[in-house]
Amino acid sequence: MTEHNPVTEASAVKIPTLPDAQTVTSVKHWTDRLFSFRVTRPASLRFRSGEFVMIGLMGDPHPETGKQKPLLRAYSIASPSWDEELEFYSIKVQDGPLTSKLQHIQPGDEIILRPKPVGTLVHDALLPGKRLWLFATGTGFAPFASLLRDPQTFEDYDQIIMTHTCRDVAELDYGRELIDTLRTDEMMVELLGEENLSKLVYYPTTTRETSPKMGRITDLLKDGTVFGDLGIDGISADTDRAMVCGSLGLNTDIKEILEGFGLEEGANSDPKHYVVEKAFVG
Ligand code: A2P
Repeated sequence: MTEHNPVTEASAVKIPTLPDAQTVTSVKHWTDRLFSFRVTRPASLRFRSGEFVMIGLMGDPHPETGKQKPLLRAYSIASPSWDEELEFYSIKVQDGPLTSKLQHIQPGDEIILRPKPVGTLVHDALLPGKRLWLFATGTGFAPFASLLRDPQTFEDYDQIIMTHTCRDVAELDYGRELIDTLRTDEMMVELLGEENLSKLVYYPTTTRETSPKMGRITDLLKDGTVFGDLGIDGISADTDRAMVCGSLGLNTDIKEILEGFGLEEGANSDPKHYVVEKAFVG
């Protein structure tokens, strides 16, 4: 008689689960360089709209030891704090250690998500003001996709100007669709209020493909085009507040422009006139 060990739960080979695993619920590819995805939200995760978390996947096994280490990057949460899932918006870098793999995730797959939200693009880091400028390039739109779905953004200001600069027209799609949803989706209109939504100005620009408004936002601010287009006198520390999320170049150049108008950089512990997300990497 051959004896088989009964397969019980304890003896069955268990596939190791990821630490801090969350399940992918949907994925949308916007262009060959951009995609967004949604994942389950840990029940205990509370965050302020505009914050980021570390997310990632397990890296390849070490060639000698076979050990795997998590490969994590800072990602702004693109969904609002009231959403039951979490949304992220990402670039695809073909030889990027994380995004070369992350771009292939499918619904049902697991990712690692460390549930410790932090960041400077939060309302608490700004002094009260009348006009809020949100400056984004590329996937730097993500934290603003969260803030624009948060009623507080509209309650705190008389005007919100969302600028988004991308290389090509198709790279504006994620942001454009989000802005359209705010204005047309019944639930969003009810949540944010029609009057509040009339405070929102969307100012998309492209730099490499022809579109109705071309040029880097920095150049359009410097030569006064933005102010002319929007019928605004300029930027002043008395009335204007700003949040910046984009390439390193954008961060440095916008900082100089804002400081030229007399604005000072704020932080969670020291609210001032503008904030920049430094954890953001292209
Ligand atoms: P450009 O095409 O002139 O480089 P990327 O896709 O490389 O992250 O860039 C996103 C957008 O940000 C592009 O339109 C790019 O313009 C623009 N950009 C890059 N650097 C700056 C900067 N220093 N100031 C303003 N916009 C910038």
